[in-house]
Amino acid sequence: EDQVVSLEMERIGDTISSLPTEDGWRTLKPLCLYQGFWCFPYYAESIILGQKYYKAEPSDIFVCSAPKSGTTWLKALTFSIVTRTRFNSSSNPLLFQSPHTCMPSFHRSFSKKLDIREPGLPLIASHTPYASLPKSVKDSDCKIVYICRDPRDAFVSLFHYIAKVRPKENEPISLEEAFELYCEGKSLFGPFWDNILGYWRASVERPRKVLFLKYEDMMKDTTLNVKKLAEFVGYPFSLEEEQQGMVQKIIEMCSFEFMSNLEVNKNGISRLATNVENNVFFRKGKVGDWKNHLTPEMANRLDNIIEQKLIGSGLTF
Ligand code: A3P
Repeated sequence: EDQVVSLEMERIGDTISSLPTEDGWRTLKPLCLYQGFWCFPYYAESIILGQKYYKAEPSDIFVCSAPKSGTTWLKALTFSIVTRTRFNSSSNPLLFQSPHTCMPSFHRSFSKKLDIREPGLPLIASHTPYASLPKSVKDSDCKIVYICRDPRDAFVSLFHYIAKVRPKENEPISLEEAFELYCEGKSLFGPFWDNILGYWRASVERPRKVLFLKYEDMMKDTTLNVKKLAEFVGYPFSLEEEQQGMVQKIIEMCSFEFMSNLEVNKNGISRLATNVENNVFFRKGKVGDWKNHLTPEMANRLDNIIEQKLIGSGLTF
């Protein structure tokens, strides 16, 4: 298998080096444009391998999101829901591990191996746009859950995130520069509107296949949405579990307050594509923080883009 991968990697390397790039965010590597979306070359590598080798199982659950839209939260929740009979409140791996290392990632894991599934765990995460998921994922009975977020908050979150993960020797960029790139669609797994609309349309066409969640709705009525999520992925809460407070236990354990105060998420480091401090995934966890960062003109510009792009889709923010 290793040899297959290394041969394949050479070919993929050639493909990737011929892609258009964008270095405006001044990240470790420039973004590259693959199949109409922008991502890091090491993600493109994994996605290309995944598109070729991944064979979906009907029991798979894809945990998808636009970046900075609540991925960490959705991962923690789906992981807790699916594994709730295996662990108790002191043995849950989320107490000792970042939610990002609790499941393999479609856009990250393939460069190391071809079978990325974790034994006994049906979860696979990704920011990959719906259109670029392998055909077998779309054709099989597996489930896809997707979380998106008001793009104004997602942008502010992305700006702060990139500022933290950018190598120290690279010059920082201003909020205005980042905003320009975001509005042009040149952001991680963007254009953001394509990422959102791809999953939105799939959820409208196939509501039993794709569950479309919004960060703001999850915040407003967490219980309702967590129950919906559990039912959708095929792990519904029994009446008994509900009476025992299982839903609330999971919500509490996955809350921003609780998770961001765990030692592992405060001071731990995880090997993702690169080494990342776990705390970069926990900033404020609030709805509407864009008001503290965007000028009225910026907000207006983004509103117009959102309106234009989503027109006729039935989706609003
Ligand atoms: P802010 O930067 O606005 O605080 P992602 O997980 O997709 O990378 O998104 C990160 C955003 O989700 C950050 O938003 C982060 O604070 C917030 N977040 C992380 N964990 C969360 C949780 N358990 N509940 C709610 N929001 C959370």
